[in-house]
Parts: sequence; structure tokens; C-alpha cells
Amino acid sequence: MNKKSILITGASSGLGYAAARKLATNGFHVLAAVRRRHGVFDKIENIEEIKLDITDEQSVKESFSYIKSRNKVYPLWGVVNNAGICIPGPLELLRPSELRRQLDTNVTGHLLVTQFALPFIRSTKGRIINVASGLGNIAVPYLGAYSIAQFAKRAFTDVLRRELRHSGVSVSVVQPGKIYTPIWDKFSTMGQEILDQSVDKKWKLYEKSFKNFLMLNQAEGYSFKLTEDDFAQVILDVLTTNKPATHYYIGDEEKDFVEKSRTLTVSEVDEWFDLQSPTAEEFEKV
Ligand SMILES: NC(=O)c1ccc[n+]([C@@H]2O[C@H](COP(=O)([O-])OP(=O)(O)OC[C@H]3O[C@@H](n4cnc5c(N)ncnc54)[C@H](OP(=O)(O)O)[C@@H]3O)[C@@H](O)[C@H]2O)c1
Repeated sequence: MNKKSILITGASSGLGYAAARKLATNGFHVLAAVRRRHGVFDKIENIEEIKLDITDEQSVKESFSYIKSRNKVYPLWGVVNNAGICIPGPLELLRPSELRRQLDTNVTGHLLVTQFALPFIRSTKGRIINVASGLGNIAVPYLGAYSIAQFAKRAFTDVLRRELRHSGVSVSVVQPGKIYTPIWDKFSTMGQEILDQSVDKKWKLYEKSFKNFLMLNQAEGYSFKLTEDDFAQVILDVLTTNKPATHYYIGDEEKDFVEKSRTLTVSEVDEWFDLQSPTAEEFEKV
């Protein structure tokens, strides 16, 4: 029998990289999608690196022409919509172009890939996995762009699952808790760059609390208990179980976070973030 093929976006590092390796050693043919070829999968059996920028329609088209040409040998059976970026910063100062970039990557890009993949996945009655975050349950200050994208991705997943209800295709969300991957350093660096370039007077208002936020996140990164392999194992489970669930939350902290989004009132959640925003005195000074 031909091996089932799984396309994973954002496979160059972090969670996507770990999942690609895990699936390849467990009987799947993996199409590991990367924006720039760097050969990390060159000598690994059952993984093919393919070039794919999910925000570029031409790139998506070309990847799927390739997938089509190989589909008889490796029928596409699964897609893991994993690629993502995280743009930090207070909403008052977020450039619209940055919000567009965030949404283009974490939402529109996944829609595009899913649209191209669906004719294949429908015919194989395969599986779609969307990788999401708890910030689609509770929106976090200074991660406004990312939170907006995660709420949108949740809606995208729910609608897709309901629309495909009778198609034989399953749609699952995998929501990892905090796992130390390059995304954490990337967003710290981006945050620092934003701070360094901020000459605007309004920045004075946010500077202290935003710096504090970046520092706390960086320090926290080293203490995370979950690993990339925990994520990869869940992806494997979703692709090998007989009947996948709609939602997978990885780690107790993540389960607790999602639970809080259901049980706390909006005011209680607001209070939770009290210390993260500028003080009344700081607002007075502007
Ligand atoms: N790590 C966590 O704690 C955590 C928690 C919850 C959810 N998540 C989600 O997990 C997913 C993977 O994140 P990660 O932690 O593994 O971070 P990561 O190591 O930074 O990986 C992100 C991947 O996305 C790729 N990517 C970015 N823009 C792209 C584009 N336009 N087209 C194609 N690929 C693109 C990156 O490619 P380049 O190398 O080319 O930039 C990289 O391979 C993200 O969706 C993130 O939101 C992560």
C-alpha cells in the first residue's frame, strides 16, 4: 500500500520540525514545508522538504502542482497548518501593516493552504489539523495582533469543521501550552526592535510595562516543562487514532487556561492582567 502523505507547514524549526520527524519515523511520508530550503531534512528517510511560503499564492500553487504530480505515489491524506509568527506590541502603536502580516500568516495563509489541499483530502477522507494557541481563548495585552489572529483561527477551524461535517474529512485543533521554541526569541527580538525604534511620545506611556512584559516572557521561556516532542506525539496521535477528537490541549497549564476562559467573568480576566498595563499615574502624565 502507498504511504499516506502529510503536509506540515512551518517545518523549518520548533514544533513543525519535531512533528515532521516524528511522523516520518512512524510510517508516514512527510512533506515538510519550509520558506527557505536549508537541507535539515536531507538525510532523513520519509521526509521531503518542499518550499512553501503560505502568504504567497504563487508559492502555494507551485507546491500543490508538485503534490499533485506525486499524488499517485504518495496520496495526500493530512495537512498540519502549523506555520506562524507572533508580533508583539501595544495596540495603540501597532502598525496596520504588522497586523496584516500577522493575519496573513496565521489566518489567510492557512485558509489558502487548506483550499488547495481540500480536493486531495476529500478524496482520501483524510485529516486537517490546525495548530492554535490559548490566546484564542483569552486575549493577552501586548500580544494583541497574535490574539486577534488566534481568535480568528478558532473561528476558521470551527466553521471548516462544521462545513465538512458530512465529508469524511476530520478537522482538529491542537493547542499546545507554552513550549520553548524559536518563536519566543523571535518575538522578544521583534519586541526589542520595536522599543529601539520607538521615538513616538506615546511610547513613553507603554515603555516600562512593555519592557517588563518582554523580560518576564524571556525569563519564563527557560522554565517551560512541555517539549516539542510532547507536541509531535499529539500530532501523531491525531493522525493514527480511529476517530480524532475536535480539540487537543497539551499540558495541564493549557487545560487550566482554557478552563479559566470558560469559568472566569470578563472582569476577573481583566483584573488578572492589572499589573501588565500602564498605571493610572502613567496615563495621567501623558
Ligand atoms: N511554542 C509555543 O509555545 C506555542 C504555543 C502555542 C501555539 N504555538 C503555535 O505553534 C506554531 C509553531 O510555532 P513554533 O513554536 O514552532 O515557532 P517557530 O519555531 O518560530 O516556527 C514557526 C514556523 O513557521 C514558519 N513560518 C512563518 N511564516 C511563514 C510563512 N509565511 N510561510 C511559511 N512558513 C512560515 C517559520 O518559518 P521560517 O523559519 O522561515 O521563519 C517556522 O518554520 C505557530 O503557529 C504558533 O503560533 C506555539
